[in-house]
Amino acid sequence: MIKIYLDYAATSPMRPEVIRAMAPYAEIDFGNASSIHTFGRKAAGAVDEARRKIAKRLNCNPLEIIFTASGTEADNLAIKGLAEDYPDGHIVTTAIEHKAILETCRALEKNGIKVTYVKPNSEGIVEIKEIERAITPKTFLVSVMYANNEVGTIQPIREIGLLVKKLNKTRKRRIYFHTDAVQGGCLLSLDTQILHTDMLTLSGHKLGGPKGVGVLYVRTGVTLTPVIHGGGQERGLRSGTLNTMGIVGTAQALESAQSQKAKEAKRLKQFQKSIFAALEKLPNVTINGSITERLANNVNFSVAGKTSDELVIGFDRKGIMVSATSACAAGNLEPSYVLQAMGAGEGRARSSLRITMGYRTKKSEIDQLIKELRNIIK
Ligand SMILES: Cc1ncc(COP(=O)(O)O)c(C=O)c1O
Repeated sequence: MIKIYLDYAATSPMRPEVIRAMAPYAEIDFGNASSIHTFGRKAAGAVDEARRKIAKRLNCNPLEIIFTASGTEADNLAIKGLAEDYPDGHIVTTAIEHKAILETCRALEKNGIKVTYVKPNSEGIVEIKEIERAITPKTFLVSVMYANNEVGTIQPIREIGLLVKKLNKTRKRRIYFHTDAVQGGCLLSLDTQILHTDMLTLSGHKLGGPKGVGVLYVRTGVTLTPVIHGGGQERGLRSGTLNTMGIVGTAQALESAQSQKAKEAKRLKQFQKSIFAALEKLPNVTINGSITERLANNVNFSVAGKTSDELVIGFDRKGIMVSATSACAAGNLEPSYVLQAMGAGEGRARSSLRITMGYRTKKSEIDQLIKELRNIIK
């Protein structure tokens, strides 16, 4: 049976050029980037080059890029690293963030930090006025994801960035603005000057790069306390031997993804349109999330009378790999907290399915998916 992978929001296959870029650092140029000998300098040079490439895409200084061992770790560093200086502080985030943000905030709440989890509207979009309403004199951080990992809705990051900037002009306590851009790296612009973000998170494996590499952009002037202590790599912000191979691969993946994003968005939009059109003809289907403010690679819907797991397994039996909620939450049969925050009832939140496409997705695969949609849903 042919296998069709439509779960790119969970992870993506590595791009051939990424594997080619990484290979020398596995076997030949395997040195530790902190060593001062020839092999060490070679590795350090490769990391520097990767840092430069990523900085170019983010329109920032290479020194503002910190490598971590996952997107989750980068999110932890951004939030915990900043919170250390504000023990009485307040964070504004959203109820639809990835667990990497939500659980980090919950951990901080145990230490006395206050957190407001702003709900999105029924379309899965967080409204700027709700963010503004949540801000208090004690707020030191606003963290809003760029695009949601379940429903693909794109949040008004630039507008929130501008709001924070405006508020900072008259505030005693400065507010920093972080965005988890892990799901936006392939299809959205990551220009931190346009977005007005102080911190931004990326993850290698969502870009067609390797798993286990995170990137945190930290604007000059933002002071973080490290979460991981040790040899003082990454200017003391993230100790641990640098994953040269993974870092090189992530830089190449970002380069490929960002240089192809306009073309890819157009191509995937066509696929998305045809899936939505097919779903509209089927009974008991509700599409979740805004159709317009949405990543071109995401389709999410609920089927009344079915559970998410039944749907995932039904598609898997036909060789099509899709998912229910996020990969981290899969398998625990919990209803989607994202859909619930959007005001969907428990039934809809327990019967959702996410289809996410990527650079390898072909039209023939989408045709096959549409054929099976009819069989499985009816
Ligand atoms: C929005 C978002 N943030 C953070 C993460 C975590 O990234 P990583 O898998 O690199 O830890 C994910 C992964 O699913 C994600 O979708």
